[in-house]
Amino acid sequence: MVSMIHCDSLWYGADIVTMQGGKYHLIPQGAMAVTGGKIVWIGPYAELPPITTSHEVVYKGGLITPGLIDCHTHLVFGGDRSAEFEQRLNGVSYAEIAANGGGIISTVRATRAASEQQLLEQALFRLRSLLAEGVTCIEIKSGYGLSLESEIKMLRVARKLGEILPITIKTTCLAAHALPPEFAGRPDDYIDYVCSTIIPQVAVEGLADAVDAFCEHLAFSPTQVERVFLAAQKAGLPIKLHAEQLSSLNGGTLAAKFGALSADHLEYATESDVKAMSQAGTVAVLLPGAYYLLRETQCPPVEMFRRYGVPMALASDANPGTSPALSLRLMLNMACTLFRMTPEEALAGVTCHAAQALGVQHSQGTLETGKLANWVHWPLSRPAELAYWLGGQLPAAVVFQGEARS
Ligand code: NIG
Ligand code: FE
Repeated sequence: MVSMIHCDSLWYGADIVTMQGGKYHLIPQGAMAVTGGKIVWIGPYAELPPITTSHEVVYKGGLITPGLIDCHTHLVFGGDRSAEFEQRLNGVSYAEIAANGGGIISTVRATRAASEQQLLEQALFRLRSLLAEGVTCIEIKSGYGLSLESEIKMLRVARKLGEILPITIKTTCLAAHALPPEFAGRPDDYIDYVCSTIIPQVAVEGLADAVDAFCEHLAFSPTQVERVFLAAQKAGLPIKLHAEQLSSLNGGTLAAKFGALSADHLEYATESDVKAMSQAGTVAVLLPGAYYLLRETQCPPVEMFRRYGVPMALASDANPGTSPALSLRLMLNMACTLFRMTPEEALAGVTCHAAQALGVQHSQGTLETGKLANWVHWPLSRPAELAYWLGGQLPAAVVFQGEARS
């Protein structure tokens, strides 16, 4: 005799795109049983075992995908940089603006001046936009505070967002983002301060889930970044790196050497970076929004990532300077159009590979038994449509940990 399963809720009536192994893995007319916020059974409705539930939801067609994951954002910041956007349209470069006290440093001024409440309200507005298109997990970096007090302020705001809205927030300490004015001409002293004070303190307070740095001529050298990584290791935090965005400094190789979760941007990554990342299992996070806005012409080496089996994730990089992006779905289209990724790779980039870039692949990123019941119901018939439609708010419904999100 087959025993009866009891579950909290049962969902069916749509095709399910599971994204297992980074592929669509479509289950036509699928069903999912959920208990305690997790999937306890998934498969074709026709093969559903004997099951009882007090809550049943029947979709009228459409597609279900895993909840979207935005694995690289700078969503908490003060002010905006639309004036720099105008300057760049008049031919001033990102590096020139930064050298003249604009760029990241102008956001640092605005972020330091803002109260925790002001930062929270501004970030909530941006987060709601991402939420509306089916994002169920997001990473948020600090890096516009650049002092213990203001880095902590940013990270607290990021944590609070997750208490207010039904979404998982992963926080990253990016204190090594730029040189604050009070350390002008003394980058090594600033790195000492980051390593001896900021990283240990945010770790003790449980405010950071990872540590990131910006490895670039206009930010920090590989030697300085290495010291930041050692401090992260000492604090027991995983690492990520802004690498090879504007030039080639072998940041991908450095990140891989430290077993980084991800190396991000990577337009100028070389074959040796890609090889090292493949051996270390480091995810390549590609950021088409920043590529587009900076009118970059060098594409990240997508074909090489494929050849070496490096998982590619995609993210909005939402930030006030290089990617004021309030849509993750738009990034899918840009990744296909600009980087020649396939729609299937793009969807894997915001689901299972994004989960891996945040170290949450055991509970999120695909729809399978044991994982969180986080999904989006789309009124679409083919998964490629997610990358095809240019913008627009498409989700019909979003489920977060087994509950329909309103
Ligand atoms: O990911 N590359 C450095 N950091 C951000 C840009 C930050 C800014 O310009 O405010 C990025 O592109
Ligand atoms: Fe970034």
